[in-house]
Amino acid sequence: MRPAYGVVHATASGRVPPLDGNPMAMQPTEGRGAWSGKLGFVLAAAGSAIGLGNIWRFPYMASEGGGGAFVFVYLLCVMGIGVPVLFAELAIGRATERNPVGAFKKLAPGTMWPALGGMGVAAGFGILAFYSVIAGWTVGYLWMALTGAFGPGVDAAASGALFGSFIGSPGPAIGLSALFLIITAVVVRGGISGGIEKASKILMPVLLGVLIILLIRAVTLPGGMDGVNYLLRPQLSELTPQVVVLALGQALFSMSLGMGAMITYGSYFPKDISLPFAGTAVALADMCIALLAGLIIFPALFSAGMDPQGGPGLVFVVLPTVFAQMPLGGFFAILFFASLSIAALTSTISLMEVVVAYLVDERGWARKKAATIIALACFVLAVPSALSQGAVGWLSSMPVFNQSFLDVQNILWGNYGLSIGAILITLFVGFKWGTPKMLEWIELGGNRLPGREFFAFMVKYVCPLAIAVVLVFIAVTGQYF
Ligand code: PHE
Repeated sequence: MRPAYGVVHATASGRVPPLDGNPMAMQPTEGRGAWSGKLGFVLAAAGSAIGLGNIWRFPYMASEGGGGAFVFVYLLCVMGIGVPVLFAELAIGRATERNPVGAFKKLAPGTMWPALGGMGVAAGFGILAFYSVIAGWTVGYLWMALTGAFGPGVDAAASGALFGSFIGSPGPAIGLSALFLIITAVVVRGGISGGIEKASKILMPVLLGVLIILLIRAVTLPGGMDGVNYLLRPQLSELTPQVVVLALGQALFSMSLGMGAMITYGSYFPKDISLPFAGTAVALADMCIALLAGLIIFPALFSAGMDPQGGPGLVFVVLPTVFAQMPLGGFFAILFFASLSIAALTSTISLMEVVVAYLVDERGWARKKAATIIALACFVLAVPSALSQGAVGWLSSMPVFNQSFLDVQNILWGNYGLSIGAILITLFVGFKWGTPKMLEWIELGGNRLPGREFFAFMVKYVCPLAIAVVLVFIAVTGQYF
């Protein structure tokens, strides 16, 4: 093992003396669970990051941001903002071995900082409540694909009507989000290595395999390369402040940042394993899967002669018409919606885990009880979101923000929650805990973080500032991401 840079070595047991001399850090952590190793962590954390954000949200964000222009800024945001925030969160988790509230209690006892952790837990709950509704749609679409609903003859009008009536039907919308919450709770009840890690180790390779099959199908379609060009060739004329906002918001959401999911997952990180490598792998995996999704959807779209527009309905409305025209389209539709459901599941697991970890660590609840109660409570908040897509009129257009209940949840938790959370987390690390501490904990075990000074600088100054600019922009213009 290479020497740690100014860091005490891991002992043979993998446990290390606390760096900050805080006796609290000596508390035994047995019983909380831990990843069995690097692969387990990478798959679970990549599972959290890779979700609807990559396969459903990224493509329609890209189409709203002019294709390549968006992708270009998005990649910059991932590297310049996302990765530093990711490492800041992982370091906090690793140093404290706690949920977000407990983590800030440990690092800044007697201050207001634990409230930031509380905000993260609330955001986890709030995001889970609307995310599980959309995840439910993916299961409904998987079912429809399996029953052959996307055969030849599904045109744009038929597909749009199908989507509208599907998300507007109260029964399926509520039932499928309940189903999704139940499956999530079953996995979370199983614990860290036995539940979350096990599920991720099966689901993530399946997801990758399915996406690669779809990629090969899409890029070999006649005219498919036009879609590749659209996604990868930035048209600088398309670059607007709005594109930057969309890209930064997408980076935060897609990497599960700003609400402590990565603090929580980092808290189960074995001490003797290299975090620089594992963190980089998670970021890269998230980025690659988003690009992969884009490289499936846009070639398919261009090949079918369709416009790369479509907003949130892109994968639900436009893709079925593409499948309808594609040889073996019904089969590829099944694969696609299966991959969406799988990706969503590994993300809902992490959202629920943040809340469960809080109840287990701070309130002394049993994990199983916590997961069950959170699933039930979340369902109560999911119902109005499920009913807000046409089933119940007043929920479809709320007086606040003039949006549906589901969209309001996204604005509150996804936009404001994550960006305020990310600003405060980076300010905490930059000015209260200190970036040297962050680097020590990242490099614990002996691996130097390449570009460590750059990351420290970004965390301390650039991230909070850049995200604050985006926050002001969305608050002033009402153009959310
Ligand atoms: N990153 C997930 C996705 O891309 C969503 C998510 C956000 C999960 C925040 C956890 C925390 O779908």
